[in-house]
Amino acid sequence: MSIFSDNFLWGGAVAANQCEGAWDADGKGISASDVCTGGSHTRSKRITRTLEPDTFYPSHEAIDFYHHYKEDIALFAEMGFKVFRFSIAWTRIFPTGMEETPNEEGLAFYDRVIDECRSHNIEPLITISHYEMPFALTEEYNGWSSRECVDLFVKYAVTLFKRYKGKVKYWLTFNEINAGTMPMGGFLSLGILNEGTTDFTNQIDNPQLRFQGLHHQFVASALAVKAGHEIDPDCKIGCMICHITTYPMTCNPDDILEAQKRNQILNQFCGDVQVRGEYPRFMDRYFKENGLVIKMEPGDLEIIKEGCVDYYTFSYYMSNCASADPELEKTSGNLMGGAKNPYLESSDWGWQIDPKGLRYTLIELYGRYQIPLMVVENGLGAYDKKEEDGSIQDDYRISYLKKHIEQMREAVADGVDLMGYTPWGCIDLVSASTGEMAKRYGFIYVEKYDDGTGDLTRKKKKSFDWYKKVIETNGEVLE
Ligand code: BG6
Repeated sequence: MSIFSDNFLWGGAVAANQCEGAWDADGKGISASDVCTGGSHTRSKRITRTLEPDTFYPSHEAIDFYHHYKEDIALFAEMGFKVFRFSIAWTRIFPTGMEETPNEEGLAFYDRVIDECRSHNIEPLITISHYEMPFALTEEYNGWSSRECVDLFVKYAVTLFKRYKGKVKYWLTFNEINAGTMPMGGFLSLGILNEGTTDFTNQIDNPQLRFQGLHHQFVASALAVKAGHEIDPDCKIGCMICHITTYPMTCNPDDILEAQKRNQILNQFCGDVQVRGEYPRFMDRYFKENGLVIKMEPGDLEIIKEGCVDYYTFSYYMSNCASADPELEKTSGNLMGGAKNPYLESSDWGWQIDPKGLRYTLIELYGRYQIPLMVVENGLGAYDKKEEDGSIQDDYRISYLKKHIEQMREAVADGVDLMGYTPWGCIDLVSASTGEMAKRYGFIYVEKYDDGTGDLTRKKKKSFDWYKKVIETNGEVLE
């Protein structure tokens, strides 16, 4: 007997800007990700103001899911997916974000994707905004720093709820909304460029714009949740948080307070707003001490209160430590690094691998919010090697995922209400942070390389059959 419920949602996750390609097909507009070049730098250091000739932009072709979706979804079905998490590119629906009527060809593409999932009994789980927005909104309004984006986003979300009503039950408003609390989220999540800057490869962080933008996203998300529930009372709309699990470096009370503060600002702030419908009081002090003033319109707090999410989802890749000593050795991580934990090993990109941290996180989150949880991203970005016979023996990935699933089991035994699990990049795709293809997460290998070459052929890795077995046995057999 499996500890996971019979209807546990096993599957995988991707995002439009990292897999679709076809960046200008069928009326699609230019998105924020489309102006980011390749390379190993963070996205904010890879922005070009206009599209430059002879420059490689990884999102433009990506893995061309746009033209391979049938083949890819068939492979997901072969693994036994119950759910497929993907995002809709805002720019396929409203190319600049400012049109009055949606682009029918864009809507029709997602009809096809959703129908294809349904034909294989795969439940679509759709992220409405995943690290891309119309670049025209950056140019016109400096992204989410402007209030204008609220109504434009709600118009877009309502269009989706109406169109896909009855076919899509699970929605997420913003991917990793708490990215806005971190410098890296400025352009990546909020489409904000530093005002007056001419050097687009060297963005200077502006926390005031970021936190104001985040407030606008909270209001937009809450309005979308309200509208979604009115349009389709059966649908479930969740939040999505990048969980930066942080331990105190030592039992020194200064380290403990430092870890608690990081956890509040980076993780709990956004979760509290979206689940509890309130700005947590600890933010007052943070705003004050950092000279941040959040401009709110009358009624904003009521909207936030009325637009609480139905379930809580998060990404979990790693953990790190907090220390009062700024000199301690640092490590990198998803969106945010921290002090290095001597007990953990790291991925090729320096992210510290911590399966038990997932159990800890699930228990903490369920204790705080008491609503269903879902792990919608987890996985190991690694350099995969093709053997002489063409096979990819990704035992390191199997080992990573196995250990995390074991800890999910423990968390469920600890009483956590866990709905599902969608490992990240179930098919290889472009890295969000670096733009690389070399950082692979998939069960399916894609012939596409960092210089843009590759014939896009799909190939099952060793982990493909392993995950198939995991799903078949509802998480019982992990060998
Ligand atoms: C999450 C994002 O932060 O992590 C994804 O939601 C991203 O878009 C994933 O791809 C892994 O990060 P990276 O930088 O390895 O692609």
